[in-house]
Amino acid sequence: MTAGGPPNAAPSGERKLVTLLFADLTGFTALASSLDPEEVYASVRPGMTALVRIVQDYGGTVPQVMGDGFMAIFGVPTAHEDDAERAVRAALAVRDHARELQRGRSGTPFPEVHAGVNSGEVMVAPSSEPAGFAVIGDTVNTASRLADLAMPGIVLVDERTRRRTEHAIRYGPTRGYRAKGKPKPIPASEVVGVRSVLPAGRPAPGVSGGFVARERQLEALGRALSNAVDRQRSSVLVVTAEPGAGKTRLAVEFGRRHPEALLLSGRCTAYGQRLPLFPLASALQDLIGLSEEAPEAVTDRAVRRLAHRVVGSRRAGDLTRGLKLLLGAVDSYAVRDPTAAVGQTMRAARAVLEGLARERPVIAVLDDLHWADAHLLELLHSTRANPWSGPVLLLGLSRLEALGSGDPLPTLKLEALPDRRLRELGELALGPGVPASVLGRIVARASGNPLFLEESLSMLVESGALVQRPAGWIVADHQLLEQVPATIRTLIAARLDGLPADEKRVLQDAAVCGEATWDRLLDGVSAAEEVGSALQRLVDRDLLRRRPRSRLPGAREYVFKHVLIRDVAYESLPRRDRC
Ligand SMILES: Nc1ncnc2c1ncn2[C@@H]1O[C@H](COP(=O)(O)OP(=O)(O)O)[C@@H](O)[C@H]1O
Ligand SMILES: [Mg+2]
Repeated sequence: MTAGGPPNAAPSGERKLVTLLFADLTGFTALASSLDPEEVYASVRPGMTALVRIVQDYGGTVPQVMGDGFMAIFGVPTAHEDDAERAVRAALAVRDHARELQRGRSGTPFPEVHAGVNSGEVMVAPSSEPAGFAVIGDTVNTASRLADLAMPGIVLVDERTRRRTEHAIRYGPTRGYRAKGKPKPIPASEVVGVRSVLPAGRPAPGVSGGFVARERQLEALGRALSNAVDRQRSSVLVVTAEPGAGKTRLAVEFGRRHPEALLLSGRCTAYGQRLPLFPLASALQDLIGLSEEAPEAVTDRAVRRLAHRVVGSRRAGDLTRGLKLLLGAVDSYAVRDPTAAVGQTMRAARAVLEGLARERPVIAVLDDLHWADAHLLELLHSTRANPWSGPVLLLGLSRLEALGSGDPLPTLKLEALPDRRLRELGELALGPGVPASVLGRIVARASGNPLFLEESLSMLVESGALVQRPAGWIVADHQLLEQVPATIRTLIAARLDGLPADEKRVLQDAAVCGEATWDRLLDGVSAAEEVGSALQRLVDRDLLRRRPRSRLPGAREYVFKHVLIRDVAYESLPRRDRC
């Protein structure tokens, strides 16, 4: 491996889907020409450092800072499935912080920031630059153009980023922006704000919302709820499955079938989660109709009203303070004893859920629990050991089966959907007239995962590979049929990037071999040292499966668990390393 390269990149570089953010200080050139260079440096530099740190907090890498701005990359060295969302949120946070710097300052004003965000494929190559790598590709130029085109205080985002973040970010209308060096206008939109209430499931353009199968699982959830109601005690259940299998959707359908219960839901996020019981806090914010930007007086009133509602006027005072901690409505500087504050937060969460359960049964959905912090897991484990009073079902949704330490929480595993159900979903989504052989191919590649199916269909329709004619659908581009949609690639790439370097290398080498590979073959071709043990670890992680009977005598045979995993590993290699 080249010295100074990203930790687990292939030596000759790697093709990656990333999101780029360019942030520039407005009017910096004018400022610089009106002042002494040293004065400019002194006045802007500390602020700039703070802005860069904000971007890094969101997981962005900043290879270099220019005088009047910087570029950040999300997805290098490590890809996250939500890189696009991180980049947009980081851009907003940078813009807001620059405004704060402006306010707190007399003399030279700190300039407004304008920013551009763009997602696409780049080549990441090892380089002697301080960051250890360079990113190359038109995606970089477009991001920089978008930043140039954005007015002061505005974040301008390309269509791909928009589609991948619309569930969390609000946008203005899409317009075509003319940029120098670009023959066609770039379609882009301005960020308007952040959504505080997240719509359920993922939006999938052009795909209708039929629901199939999962009757048995819905019944199991129903039983957990009626148990809680019959015994007047809380219960904890965690639904586990791989990404896209349908956890969130299952919880939504479950809520729909139980209108007698109060459905609260919130999700954990992989970053920027500052409150200890974040998903519960955001669920309660939704319940009382609070937005993050609400002024203090409004928050205060809403919190006091909730406290009165759940514990009555005598004990409302105590609960109000706990609730404000829970909802993050207390300035963190005002918290003198953080440990005591966490305890108070936990008690408030319990009191409010028990109180609400006196009105009617409560289903509290804690989505993406694999990202939960230790406090939330502690709350679940302790509630499981010593249930609360009243019918509260704490329903976690997680990719992992083991959460936290101690006795495992009761789980319900969601299996892959049978092919015929996916076929049904495909027909529901596209309507009649899809050639059976085409749908069959797409279904087979999705391996029982409804998200993979939806994303493939959306990609094929959007890219014009599948075209609807009066007589039915036709395949206009057979090659595209074999491509992996961008969202799925990001999801899987994020997993592969998290692997130790030797395992990632072996997986990439295995991908070059094809759908199946053998330890003896890899021993000869792979640059990794301990091929055998890396293969075993990849099996343990459920990325590869060992075939009970090898087709090559004297060698162990492995297959990819999912053909998409092979495709993504393969596509991450530069073209010359493929065969
Ligand atoms: N049983 C189902 N019937 C129809 N669509 C489903 C079903 N399960 C999941 N989906 C769809 O598949 C996509 C992924 O499901 P989601 O619940 O977001 O997965 P997860 O939460 O496990 O990552 C969503 O668009 C969802 O609506
Ligand atoms: Mg989900």
